[in-house]
Amino acid sequence: RKKVTINTLRTMHANRIPIAMMTAHDFPSGLAADQAHMDMILIGDSLAMVGLGMEDMLHHCRAVSRAVKSAFTVGDLPMGSYEISPEHAVHSSIQMVQDGRVEAVKLEGGAEMSSTIARITSVGIPVLGHIGLTPQRSHALGGFRVQGKTASSASKLLTDALALQAAGCFGMVLEAVPAPVAALISSKLKIPTIGIGAGNGCGGQVLVQIDMLGNFPEGRFMPKFVKRYENIFEKSKQAMEQYRDEVKNRSYPAAEHTYPITAQELKDFEA
Ligand code: KIV
Ligand code: NA
Repeated sequence: RKKVTINTLRTMHANRIPIAMMTAHDFPSGLAADQAHMDMILIGDSLAMVGLGMEDMLHHCRAVSRAVKSAFTVGDLPMGSYEISPEHAVHSSIQMVQDGRVEAVKLEGGAEMSSTIARITSVGIPVLGHIGLTPQRSHALGGFRVQGKTASSASKLLTDALALQAAGCFGMVLEAVPAPVAALISSKLKIPTIGIGAGNGCGGQVLVQIDMLGNFPEGRFMPKFVKRYENIFEKSKQAMEQYRDEVKNRSYPAAEHTYPITAQELKDFEA
């Protein structure tokens, strides 16, 4: 498969082909997402519920980037790495590309981030915006709640989306926004919106890999927009239980999992 570049994404969007994006957090999850032909792979700070700092994120970005051959990779700027000043944000973004080996960065926020986005794009680093439910700002939002449910907050979202486009974003994540609001915002933009809990009127979709694979125990809270395509947690647990039992009853390792030695060599060794 050909390498997906920012130009591929632009062409896709111009031809109204939805962009498929998925998060990855480590080498195996990056490999799986890339081999499943994702257009974009996000190393999202959802990997520790926005709890990680810059050094942690760089570590995860490096692991994923090593695995990814074709998808366009985006590193999530963690909280504290881009809000203080545009200069700090440029510094963090350069680290993401140079040390994290990603191709673009993502940051949260609306019109107030315009000058920061413009600075980062001015040094040649593509920026993906993120508005609607912005997890790093959840305390100010009063929790993980749907955004843009009133006319005034929907208008604010549209203003922010237009500002992000004007500042130079190549696209933006729209999280937890009513579908008709997301569709209207998407129709007013030239750049693609990447929806998560924002309906199918967006330019693409993103899901958190752990969530869509069902790699979490039964009963854990999941947002309404998560579709669980598999039940990986149960399957992993069952496989590990079987391994544990086979260790305990000595049925693992079996002969086929061991290395042979000739009878003569063994005899000489034992002598
Ligand atoms: O951290 C993350 O995984 C994200 C996506 C949900 C967009 O920001
Ligand atoms: Na994130």
